Amino acid sequence: MAKVLVVYGSRHGGTRGIAERIGEVLRAEGLEADVTAADHAGDVGSADAVVVGSGVYIGNWLKEPLEFIKRNQAALATRPLWLFSSGPLPGSTASKDPSDPLTDALGPEDGPGSGGRKKIAELSAATHPVDNRVFLGAFDPKDPPRAMVERLVRMMPASKDILPPGDFRNWDAIEAWAREIAATLAVPVA
Ligand SMILES: Cc1cc2nc3c(=O)[nH]c(=O)nc-3n(C[C@H](O)[C@H](O)[C@H](O)COP(=O)(O)O)c2cc1C
Repeated sequence: MAKVLVVYGSRHGGTRGIAERIGEVLRAEGLEADVTAADHAGDVGSADAVVVGSGVYIGNWLKEPLEFIKRNQAALATRPLWLFSSGPLPGSTASKDPSDPLTDALGPEDGPGSGGRKKIAELSAATHPVDNRVFLGAFDPKDPPRAMVERLVRMMPASKDILPPGDFRNWDAIEAWAREIAATLAVPVA
């Protein structure tokens, strides 16, 4: 039975929920799946395949999942790897391009505001992920900010337009993606 490690970075629990649902679906599909916060994840160990995801803040993945990938770059390059970003809040005026999920979440490939996207592109060039998916996120204004930059964005007069409140996570899309992962891993290596 293939063993999958699902690693996530999450400030407010939205991405953790996605990672946990992916783990549940993988287990329901007959795989072994461990779901771990990136700041507690050591190395890839005996996992046959790895899924890494992060909540997106100002066009960037959180540092813990980025560090997990950097630290395990060599091991990840030799295993099937899937990446996901959890971010866009539909209707946000900060939306970069709603027709292109990666640009919407992480910004353009080049030029101003491309730093977060470039970091993922560099890590992808070194690890060759099977897929790099974007899922809609969640924002609860009652949950206090966990970082200075979040505090500042929330204090801006336009914050209500930048951060539409709600849970927009699309569980059907998340579960379908997890089933795709399971199906890929079920195909025996020739
Ligand atoms: C201050 C702030 C900045 C954000 N910036 C982005 C962004 O640049 N791109 C994006 O797609 N989502 C952005 N989001 C939305 C979050 O990624 C979304 O709320 C996500 O579900 C958070 O995941 P978490 O709960 O796991 O931390 C931002 C949210 C906040 C509060």
